[in-house]
Amino acid sequence: MKRKGIVVAVVCLSALITVFNAVYIGRNQFIHIIKDVFNRNMVNNSSNFRDIVSTISTKKFAITKSMNESIMKLYARSFDNVITPYSSKYMIDGKNICSVSPLPSLLIFVLSLPKAKEERQAIRQTWGSVAKQSQAFFNISTRLVFVLGRMAEETLSQVLKDESTEYQDMVQIDFIESRYNLTRKMMHGLMWVKTYCQSINYILKADDDTFINVIRLSDYLLRDSNISHDTIHGFLYRKGGQVLRYGKYAVSKEELPSDRYPPYASGTAYILPYDVISDMFDLAERLPYCPVDDAFLTGVLRVILDIKLKHTDYFTDMFQYHYKPCKFHSQIAVTNINTKCMYLLWNLTTHEKETDCEQSKLYDKQICSIFG
Ligand SMILES: *[C@@H]1O[C@H](CO)[C@@H](O)[C@H](O)[C@H]1NC(C)=O
Ligand SMILES: *[C@@H]1O[C@H](CO)[C@@H](O)[C@H](O)[C@H]1NC(C)=O
Ligand SMILES: *[C@@H]1O[C@H](CO)[C@@H](O)[C@H](O)[C@H]1NC(C)=O
Ligand SMILES: *[C@@H]1O[C@H](CO)[C@@H](O)[C@H](O)[C@H]1NC(C)=O
Ligand SMILES: *[C@@H]1O[C@H](CO)[C@@H](O)[C@H](O)[C@H]1NC(C)=O
Ligand SMILES: *[C@@H]1O[C@H](CO)[C@@H](O)[C@H](O)[C@H]1NC(C)=O
Ligand SMILES: *[C@@H]1O[C@H](CO)[C@@H](O)[C@H](O)[C@H]1NC(C)=O
Repeated sequence: MKRKGIVVAVVCLSALITVFNAVYIGRNQFIHIIKDVFNRNMVNNSSNFRDIVSTISTKKFAITKSMNESIMKLYARSFDNVITPYSSKYMIDGKNICSVSPLPSLLIFVLSLPKAKEERQAIRQTWGSVAKQSQAFFNISTRLVFVLGRMAEETLSQVLKDESTEYQDMVQIDFIESRYNLTRKMMHGLMWVKTYCQSINYILKADDDTFINVIRLSDYLLRDSNISHDTIHGFLYRKGGQVLRYGKYAVSKEELPSDRYPPYASGTAYILPYDVISDMFDLAERLPYCPVDDAFLTGVLRVILDIKLKHTDYFTDMFQYHYKPCKFHSQIAVTNINTKCMYLLWNLTTHEKETDCEQSKLYDKQICSIFG
């Protein structure tokens, strides 16, 4: 009976491979497909399972029907070759950030510019401090990393190296900073994670003007039973969005032929499971470069790879400006935050009881324009 199951499974696998033999996908996706086949045939022998996975995953071609359909919808062609390589070199490799015990399970991943030391300091001294000292309310082994590229005229290299030596929380990658290069920045950053930070389960991606209420984040990660390794969590644009061909967020037809983005999460802050980043990386190298990083990563790549996406109101997007102080106790992320406001919000979330928020003494419109 067992044998028969295995034979059926192997036949199914060969069928899958022959039918869908054009598009490369990563190892995790193989495992997913194979598990599926095994489940359907009720094969239950993990040693056989491992054999088959290791044989099959050296052949880089298998894709599910729904993935193929997604690719067809978005690009109307299939991709076998690396056309957008993301290999890179580091000016600051940050290789010790994640190697110190206790190994982290969460990585706070903040995009930062070389000149933005004030913003980095504000994060280090406020919500980012959970990466350095454990707090009663934050029980997750965490590291903070600022991901930087370089300016065309690099003038800060020694200053940045000194800052990095002092704080041990920076990675600088050798590409030129620009809005157009934001996807490149994300991808290089994820590659760094894959190389140097393999113990983690989740990445919390944030911008350096985003404030994270780490108390709520901890609740969400530890107590929400629905958080899982195959789901991106964030503030969702459920209907996706139009692909703009001009202006600040312009994307050409060559970069993305489809007229609309699939549903995606706002890039201001989202949770990305570690398990999906290799597949994202492998696929991104086989698609044309697309400069709108959040729509590309959590929309296009996600849809093709069949990764789930979950909306939560606790996250935010860059168009939300007005909050009442009480709202902060339930929010995980707010954005458009200047550094002074960062300190104020930190005081608000750590020094004030939830019940005090109606009469908050810290509430200060002068400092935080987000108080509506
Ligand atoms: C993907 O779907 C298209 C359109 O249905 C089909 O022509 C193509 O052969 C498929 N490619 C793969 C790799 O399955
Ligand atoms: C596989 O084996 C485990 C342990 O023997 C058992 O608990 C599980 O129910 C089995 N699964 C299937 C699908 O037979
Ligand atoms: C699982 O498969 C391997 C390889 O075919 C075999 O050596 C082993 O005995 C099997 N284990 C069980 C529990 O059936
Ligand atoms: C923190 O983690 C430790 C060890 O896993 C556990 O015993 C403790 O209850 C946790 N505390 C909170 C507040 O979750
Ligand atoms: C993006 O980075 C690459 C690599 O450093 C650089 O050659 C290119 O000029 C940058 N693009 C823009 C638009 O800044
Ligand atoms: C978990 O997911 C289920 C099904 O989607 C939903 O009904 C439930 O409310 C969710 N629980 C939480 C705590 O979000
Ligand atoms: C935050 O609290 C600290 C210590 O209580 C205080 O010195 C600081 O002025 C406060 N900052 C803001 C912006 O409210």
